[in-house]
Amino acid sequence: MTETPYTTGEPAAPVSKLGYVTFDTPDVERMTWYYTKVLDLEVVEQSHDYAYLTTGADHHCVVIRKTDGVKPRSAVGYEVWGSLGDAHQRLKNAGYDVERRSDVAPGTPDVLVMAEPSTGAELHLFENPTPSGVDGRATLRPTKLGHVAAFTTELERLQGFYQDLLGFRWSDTIGDFFVFLRCNADHHAANFLRSVNRTGMHHIAYEMRDPNHLITMVDHLAKNDFRLHWGPGRHGPGHNMFTYHRDPDGNTIELFTQLDLILDESKGYFEPRPWHENYPQYPRTWEVDIATINMWGPVTESELER
Ligand SMILES: [Fe+2]
Repeated sequence: MTETPYTTGEPAAPVSKLGYVTFDTPDVERMTWYYTKVLDLEVVEQSHDYAYLTTGADHHCVVIRKTDGVKPRSAVGYEVWGSLGDAHQRLKNAGYDVERRSDVAPGTPDVLVMAEPSTGAELHLFENPTPSGVDGRATLRPTKLGHVAAFTTELERLQGFYQDLLGFRWSDTIGDFFVFLRCNADHHAANFLRSVNRTGMHHIAYEMRDPNHLITMVDHLAKNDFRLHWGPGRHGPGHNMFTYHRDPDGNTIELFTQLDLILDESKGYFEPRPWHENYPQYPRTWEVDIATINMWGPVTESELER
């Protein structure tokens, strides 16, 4: 297990934030209904075959795309620091097949497109996105897209790519199979779960302002007949309060709040919180036990499966 605390070497394409995740679905209308009427996101652009949705200022954080079958996280987009041209050259020098395109989506006119190592998902790297024009005053919708978790059959290879090429930093690992990586102050924007044969999405997570906001949304979910299958609880790694439910396509959706933050990379520990185990709380490898998965409990065996 690679446990690189922070690499000071220059990454090829340093990522500053998770931008968007694409969901392939046969029923664009139903998924767009869920995202607008249930999660309260706003449509920025749409047609019969696609929808671009946002939680606020970003042009889009969710892309719904019409296909024959359901495939969540068919593409994932990250905003990069610095020059996209330099990133393109460095990735090519590192041996990756990368295309620079202007036609990927509205709001992102300059995008590097490549296959994500190990998973085969489309990986998009962009700079200078167009603002959505949507105001941020809504009270129900999540504050932002927080993270997306995926299965991989080559965990070390994918973790190495994210850390060495994209500049992610290691935040925590559960056992030898669940890795959490950050690209800014948030504990994780990407997490990867080792699997024998799966490479798809594990879950996607949206941030709520605080526990009251999260509870308000859970009541709204219930009124629309979306029930939690796990939570509320508090994870060990990241210490975020969480709930999980499923969207109309069966994709697992996490709503969370109070995620750990590293505000000063030179110190290397998470901002102290009363629910931490250690003071200070540094990135570490966690044992696989009930308190790691859900500090509040209870946890069933099925939730430890992967
Ligand atoms: Fe999560």
